[in-house]
Amino acid sequence: MKGVLSHFLLQIPVLILLLILLFMDKSQSSPISGAKYSFSIRNKVHVLPYDISPNTQPLPFIPLLAPSPLIPFTNDSLPKLSGLCSLNFSAVQDIMTKTATNCWTTFAPYLANVVCCPQFDAMLITLIGQSSKYSGLLALSKTQANHCLSDIQKVLVSQGANENLNNICSVHPSNLTEGLCPVASVDEFESIADSSRLLTACREINPVNECCDQVCQNAIDYAARKIALNDMSNSNGNSSLPPKIARIKDCKNIILRWLAGKLNPSTSNSVFRGLSNCNLNKGEQRENKNMDFLANLSEYKS
Ligand SMILES: *[C@@H]1O[C@H](CO)[C@@H](O)[C@H](O)[C@H]1NC(C)=O
Ligand SMILES: *[C@@H]1O[C@H](CO)[C@@H](O)[C@H](O)[C@H]1NC(C)=O
Ligand SMILES: *[C@@H]1O[C@H](CO)[C@@H](O)[C@H](O)[C@H]1NC(C)=O
Ligand SMILES: *[C@@H]1O[C@H](CO)[C@@H](O)[C@H](O)[C@H]1NC(C)=O
Ligand SMILES: *[C@@H]1O[C@H](CO)[C@@H](O)[C@H](O)[C@H]1NC(C)=O
Repeated sequence: MKGVLSHFLLQIPVLILLLILLFMDKSQSSPISGAKYSFSIRNKVHVLPYDISPNTQPLPFIPLLAPSPLIPFTNDSLPKLSGLCSLNFSAVQDIMTKTATNCWTTFAPYLANVVCCPQFDAMLITLIGQSSKYSGLLALSKTQANHCLSDIQKVLVSQGANENLNNICSVHPSNLTEGLCPVASVDEFESIADSSRLLTACREINPVNECCDQVCQNAIDYAARKIALNDMSNSNGNSSLPPKIARIKDCKNIILRWLAGKLNPSTSNSVFRGLSNCNLNKGEQRENKNMDFLANLSEYKS
């Protein structure tokens, strides 16, 4: 009994923090009613209609908990970057700020699985995707990846993010390369994959429907298999090729980056957040039982 109680008490600060973050997001952009929110925390989305009519009433109690201004750690001096990363940070400035907020220094470890890391992942995809519009490349070389990840970290930290983000979210430089996927350029990708089908399926996703219908996810899976196995027909079943599953997984990243280059940055960010919420609910991503109850909450985001 005591154990249960203390477990519950331990969760309370985390819950409050999440509510603060949710409120920050909502107060910036979205129409979801604050009042409904606070009483429906444990209900699933189908209980609370997703498309609630605009209601700008602030939450009755959250503003009292939320410090104002909300990001006291913001550091206005620009961080020193390597100058060796060719990614276009200015194209995704807003999304980097959002990531820094979602991965706020002290809270990041607690909110990692549901808030911080999905946003960090979405940001990385969007950043590489947006930069592909100029470079034509959907992946970084190993050297570039090292410089870029370090620069990204510096920018985020200068805006208040946790300094240990790469570890918290298990992001390594290799995650910015093409990995085992045989395709890394926009032109090659478009010559193999059915890009209009992908765009149609993923241009805008409704996070609630997408988790059930998986229209965009299926289109991504299909395209990932196609580009992953594209040159395999020439290999006479050479079994020393990388395992199919691993190739397909890495090709999915390439596809997400390509999509990110076709969408505007904020749409791209919310599409990927929506997709990762689906995965969270299926328990596929960064499983963490303690955070399970927050997964339900996070469905209201994105
Ligand atoms: C702001 O960022 C710069 C460079 O990253 C750092 O040297 C400085 O100590 C930071 N200031 C504060 C108050 O965190
Ligand atoms: C970076 O992105 C911005 C905004 O999308 C764009 O105006 C600029 O030309 C890009 N810079 C480079 C070097 O690609
Ligand atoms: C990064 O790559 C490693 C393996 O190289 C993998 O274990 C990890 O899950 C990847 N991280 C992300 C965020 O995809
Ligand atoms: C299989 O692939 C490896 C590396 O790609 C190559 O060295 C080897 O000669 C190939 N074997 C056959 C039988 O094609
Ligand atoms: C989250 O929602 C699911 C589905 O409604 C439910 O089974 C689960 O118990 C909820 N988790 C928590 C901790 O509320």
